[in-house]
Amino acid sequence: MSITKVGIIGSGIMGSGIAEVVAKAGMDVVLRSRRQETADAMEAALEKSLAKQVERGKLDDTVAKEIIARVTPTDDLHQMADADLVIESVVEDIAVKKELFHQLDGIVKADGILATNTSTLPVVELAVVTKRPEQVVGIHFFNPAPMMSLVEIITPLTASDATIATATAFATTCGKEVVQVKDQAGFIVNALLFPYLNNAVRMLEGGTASRDDIDAAMKGGCNFPMGPLALLDLVGIDTSVSILDALYDEFRDSHYSAIPLLRRMVAAGHLGRKSGQGFYEYTKK
Ligand SMILES: NC(=O)c1ccc[n+]([C@@H]2O[C@H](COP(=O)([O-])OP(=O)(O)OC[C@H]3O[C@@H](n4cnc5c(N)ncnc54)[C@H](O)[C@@H]3O)[C@@H](O)[C@H]2O)c1
Repeated sequence: MSITKVGIIGSGIMGSGIAEVVAKAGMDVVLRSRRQETADAMEAALEKSLAKQVERGKLDDTVAKEIIARVTPTDDLHQMADADLVIESVVEDIAVKKELFHQLDGIVKADGILATNTSTLPVVELAVVTKRPEQVVGIHFFNPAPMMSLVEIITPLTASDATIATATAFATTCGKEVVQVKDQAGFIVNALLFPYLNNAVRMLEGGTASRDDIDAAMKGGCNFPMGPLALLDLVGIDTSVSILDALYDEFRDSHYSAIPLLRRMVAAGHLGRKSGQGFYEYTKK
């Protein structure tokens, strides 16, 4: 099955990024947020981002206009009815995602594939709330989606080979490097990354070193592009706690047990870049 129309649900960091990637790859995109104004604002942000790329000579003006013309912002899930593939990228909460999959199953055409961009949650639990479990898959993009080269394709026990092949071909068309992984919390990247990020917070909380020195050490000592505390801010502190909780639920390993400071930051609304305050302060553009 070839994918020509893609529904994307969720107007957060990831939804916007995935929409840009998919529209640039030549597919039609229906971008759905719960509020029309938010969906329109996402389209406007995409237009601005493309205009900057044109300004820098990285993108042709005509191509930028074609890309934006392929994107339809909406607040109506029914606009997904004839999508070949729908990717949900809403809050990392299994109850919210299950309800969404149940709704989508009643709306999207019978041969449409339903995908989740979850970072850690069991994809099979979303598959079994639908009447098409063999057509449900995890397609996990990384943040920021337009810049990061990897996509993890997650195969729940219920998925058909045809669904996995189509999802893999889609990610390749998006210009991504694809890895295959089974439906286990954290998949490859987050299962390995989050104990490290969590331990960086433990180190900060224990007073072993300062924020700046922890980040500088991992940049300079390991050649990482950013330090762990800056990366937590980029991911979002609330999303990071949800990821750690899902990992801990699955493995009961103390390295996945979220450091209390992270929960206190969520309670305070210090969610990282998206709220303007995390381990660092950010000025809104
Ligand atoms: N942040 C990352 O680095 C990253 C990377 C890869 C995958 N993900 C995954 O992508 C998904 C979205 O993450 P994000 O970082 O874009 O989050 P975000 O906090 O930026 O956005 C979450 C979105 O979910 C929406 N939402 C909240 N409650 C909802 C509800 N009840 N019903 C429908 N929509 C609701 C919000 O309006 C918002 O648009 C999560 O599953 C996350 O694990 C995140």
